[in-house]
This record gives sequence, structure tokens and C-alpha cells, in this order.
Amino acid sequence: MLRNTSLFAALIGIGVSALPADNATAYFNGLQSSLINNGLSGLWNAIVVANHTDSGPGLINKLYSDDRFTIYAPLNSAWDNSGLSQPPANGDLVSLLSYHIVKATLNSSTDIAPIRHHTIAFTELRSPTVDLPGDQTQVIVLETAVNSTTGDNANNGDVLVRGDSWNATSLGDQFVYENLFIQPIDKPSPLLKTLAQSGLAISANLGATSALSTISSTGLNETLSQDCYGCTFFIPVNSAFAAASASTNYSSLLQDDQRNILLNHVLNGSTVYSPDMSSGNAYITSAGMPLVYLTNEGKSFISVGKFRASILRSDIPVSNGVVHLIDTLMVVPQNNHQKADDAASSASSEAHARTTTTNVVGIGGITAPATRTSSAATSTPTQSQSFAKKSNGINAIWKMAMVTFVLGELWI
Ligand SMILES: *[C@@H]1O[C@H](CO)[C@@H](O)[C@H](O)[C@H]1NC(C)=O
Ligand SMILES: *[C@@H]1O[C@H](CO)[C@@H](O)[C@H](O)[C@H]1NC(C)=O
Ligand SMILES: *[C@@H]1O[C@H](CO)[C@@H](O)[C@H](O)[C@H]1NC(C)=O
Ligand SMILES: *[C@@H]1O[C@H](CO)[C@@H](O)[C@H](O)[C@H]1NC(C)=O
Ligand SMILES: *[C@@H]1O[C@H](CO)[C@@H](O)[C@H](O)[C@H]1NC(C)=O
Ligand SMILES: *[C@@H]1O[C@H](CO)[C@@H](O)[C@H](O)[C@H]1NC(C)=O
Ligand SMILES: *[C@@H]1O[C@H](CO)[C@@H](O)[C@H](O)[C@H]1NC(C)=O
Ligand SMILES: *[C@@H]1O[C@H](CO)[C@@H](O)[C@H](O)[C@H]1NC(C)=O
Repeated sequence: MLRNTSLFAALIGIGVSALPADNATAYFNGLQSSLINNGLSGLWNAIVVANHTDSGPGLINKLYSDDRFTIYAPLNSAWDNSGLSQPPANGDLVSLLSYHIVKATLNSSTDIAPIRHHTIAFTELRSPTVDLPGDQTQVIVLETAVNSTTGDNANNGDVLVRGDSWNATSLGDQFVYENLFIQPIDKPSPLLKTLAQSGLAISANLGATSALSTISSTGLNETLSQDCYGCTFFIPVNSAFAAASASTNYSSLLQDDQRNILLNHVLNGSTVYSPDMSSGNAYITSAGMPLVYLTNEGKSFISVGKFRASILRSDIPVSNGVVHLIDTLMVVPQNNHQKADDAASSASSEAHARTTTTNVVGIGGITAPATRTSSAATSTPTQSQSFAKKSNGINAIWKMAMVTFVLGELWI
């Protein structure tokens, strides 16, 4: 199992009947008041609009349950600035809302990884909007925000939601309503534009144009978009291609060799986020060669053959997997189709086996570089009390994975 999962039980307290929202109507009335009182009437409006779509009620009704959620809640100005003051009454809106809801509690002050690490949480966004293996949901990538004046990295409760070429930032304090942690943010994730795109389109946003043009010229467009279902893309930045051309005979290689070289940067059928990787982990690429992940002095590397690339930026979610940017083109034209096929089919069955444990969230608690922090039960007594709610006092089982990770030296 790749993902470091663990379970803990969150006690649902007694005294349940003392809570106001002991039925759905009361619960949603209370949510409405709570959102409006906290400057989030735009979000409430979006919920009401989504409630009239086909898929909306399924998402909205999920909130009234024994599960606990964190909602990244765009402020009113955020909806307006994004041209979404009249959100579309269709599945796009439901996808957008889904991407802002995480089925676990992430305390903005204590559970978010400091910059250069990530807290990765599974949102409620799933297929068909995303093509991830085993009906896995799309992740949200969070880190603490740095004070832009002082450069201070202390976690003062400010959170950054990282996208490919966008960030959303928390604005104001997180508050609790019943089973919900609600964190106001300054913009909705521009999900409709970006998360619906494949790794290829995201690579364009990231300026990895050399990789894109090589993918196109070697005829790999479709293979890496439609035929890559939940893939991990190690995308070399432009300078990597320039360096490879200068130092090897890369650019004069046959197209088949160039294609294999690119496929040696892709894992087919496994979406491997940085926290899934431990030093020494070995994978089989789409070309069938071994790819090894290593850490050294806080930096992260991958190697294929005699080439080694440093990971510059990790965990950029794309509709069909995840992108990690690397600094070196690993010029390995060798391939082994049999191994590639075997790896793809075992990745696929592993991913399906994983569906039962993917209601999972990463929670901060970061220590040294390159360590995966073990999953602490971050549910403090205070939190448990604020979450004591509704129904019958059973124990809710929470599944969690720890997900922190160190980036390489550079940021892009
Ligand atoms: C729901 O809860 C509210 C507030 O406690 C109460 O006034 C109302 O009668 C309840 N409705 C139903 C259908 O139980
Ligand atoms: C969603 O719509 C249903 C049916 O019209 C209604 O009963 C429910 O109160 C609505 N929920 C919200 C949160 O608007
Ligand atoms: C988050 O943790 C901080 C520090 O422990 C605590 O003061 C705060 O109340 C917590 N927030 C929520 C919403 O529980
Ligand atoms: C950044 O730090 C300055 C100086 O300590 C402080 O006044 C300011 O409130 C901080 N900004 C944020 C967004 O925390
Ligand atoms: C997003 O935040 C990171 C800091 O974590 C920063 O390096 C990057 O430039 C930001 N991106 C945008 C588009 O603002
Ligand atoms: C591949 O995709 C790129 C970018 O979307 C496009 O410009 C190019 O024409 C495509 N190439 C082929 C062969 O389809
Ligand atoms: C040039 O390409 C050939 C064929 O792939 C390879 O055997 C040779 O080692 C390469 N030379 C250099 C300098 O990389
Ligand atoms: C991934 O594996 C599937 C099934 O074996 C195959 O159809 C597809 O072409 C592969 N994609 C890549 C990028 O290797």
C-alpha cells in the first residue's frame, strides 16, 4: 500500500439532543445564518443554486451527517471577482463546490504544512470531472501562507491553496458550524478552467513548453491525455531540454527513442503524490523502466538509468493525475513493453483496491524535511466537543493519511 493510512475513532459525544440542528431543516437553516453572518452569502447562494441541479443535492445532503468536513469558502467578493456572482446552475457549479469540500477537519492553525511542504487532502470532487484511478477524488494542495511583508513562515492560521498558476489565500479566521470547519478564502479555485484540463494543458500553464512540443512532435498527445488514466507526470522544465540537447545527442535521436525517453517520465495508472513517496521507492515507468525516488539533505530526486533529476515543484493536481516538475531530462531511450503493461495493470488493480481507504486526508504536523509525519489524532477535546452532534453517539471512524513533503531547492 502506497499511502500511509491510519485510523482513529472520533468520539461523537453524548448530549447530542442539546444541539440545535437535530434535523436537516434546522441544520441547513443554521448553516445559512452562519454563512451569511460570516460574509459568505455568496457561498450560500451557490449552495442553493447547486441544490437545483441534478448532482447538487447529493453533495449538499452529505454535509448533514456524522462526517466532519472542512469547507474552503470563497468570500462574497471572491464570487464577484470571478464573475460567478450568478453561479451556473449546472454540474460545473457542483464540481466547483465539491473541490472546496474536504471530508475531514483541517485546522488552519495546526494542520497545514509549512511552505515547502504540502498538506494534501482529498476533496469531494470525483469522476467524471477527474479521471483518477479507482474513483479516487481530486486533491486540494495546502500550505501555510507566508507573510508577504515579513517573509515570516510561522503558521498564523493563514492558508494557501496551491494551483498550477494560481493560489487562493485564506482571508479571516476559520470558524466552526456544527460538523463543519469553515475557512474563508479570497477566490474560488479556478477549477472550471484548470482542473478539468489534463497534464498537458497544465504543463502549458507552467511554462513547460519544450516538454509539450516534444510530446506533440512524438505523437504522444493522446497517449498522455486520453490514454493516461490517473498518471504521474514528471515534467522537465524548458532548461532541462536545452541542457539535454547540449550535453547529449538527444535532439538527433530517432522519434521512437524520444518517445520512450518521455514515457520514462510517466507512471501509468498510479497517481503518486509526494507524500506517497519514500526514499528508495521504485516504480516502473510507462516505457517499462525502473524509476527510483530518493531524498538527500531535504531535496527530492528521481532517477531513471544513470540520470538523476531534482524535483523542483511537486503535487500539481491535474484532471488525469498529478504533475511534478523536474530539472533534468532523463535521456533513457530503453523500454520494456511487457514490464510497462504489467505495471499499468497492477497499478489499476491497486488503485481499485484503494478505493475503500481513500476517504482520506492529509493533516500537517510537520517535522524534519522529507519525513512523512505519522497521522496524529489532531482532534482535540475542544474539537470533539464542537463536533459532538446529531444522531446516536456512535464512534465515527476516520481514515487519514499523512501527507507532507519537501520540495527541491527551487520554486517555480
Ligand atoms: C427540526 O428542528 C427544529 C429546531 O429544533 C424544530 O423546530 C422542528 O420542529 C424540527 N422539525 C422536524 C420535522 O422535526
Ligand atoms: C434543496 O432542495 C430541497 C427540495 O426542494 C429542499 O427540501 C431543501 O431544503 C433544499 N436544501 C437547501 C440546502 O437549499
Ligand atoms: C485550531 O487550533 C488552534 C490552536 O490549537 C485553536 O486555538 C483553534 O480553536 C482551533 N480551531 C478550530 C476551528 O477548532
Ligand atoms: C505580517 O507581519 C506584520 C508584521 O509583523 C503584521 O503587522 C501583519 O499583520 C502580518 N500580515 C499578515 C497577513 O499576517
Ligand atoms: C503561489 O504561492 C507560492 C508560494 O507558496 C509562490 O511561490 C507562487 O509564486 C504563487 N503563485 C502565484 C500565481 O501567485
Ligand atoms: C498536441 O497538443 C498540442 C497542444 O494542445 C497541439 O498544439 C498540437 O497540435 C497537438 N499535436 C497533435 C499531433 O495532435
Ligand atoms: C548518442 O546516441 C546513441 C544511440 O542512442 C548512444 O548509444 C550514445 O551513447 C549517445 N551518445 C551520447 C554522447 O550520449
Ligand atoms: C496505460 O495503460 C493502459 C492499459 O494498459 C494503456 O492502454 C495505455 O496506453 C497506457 N498509457 C500510457 C501513457 O502508457
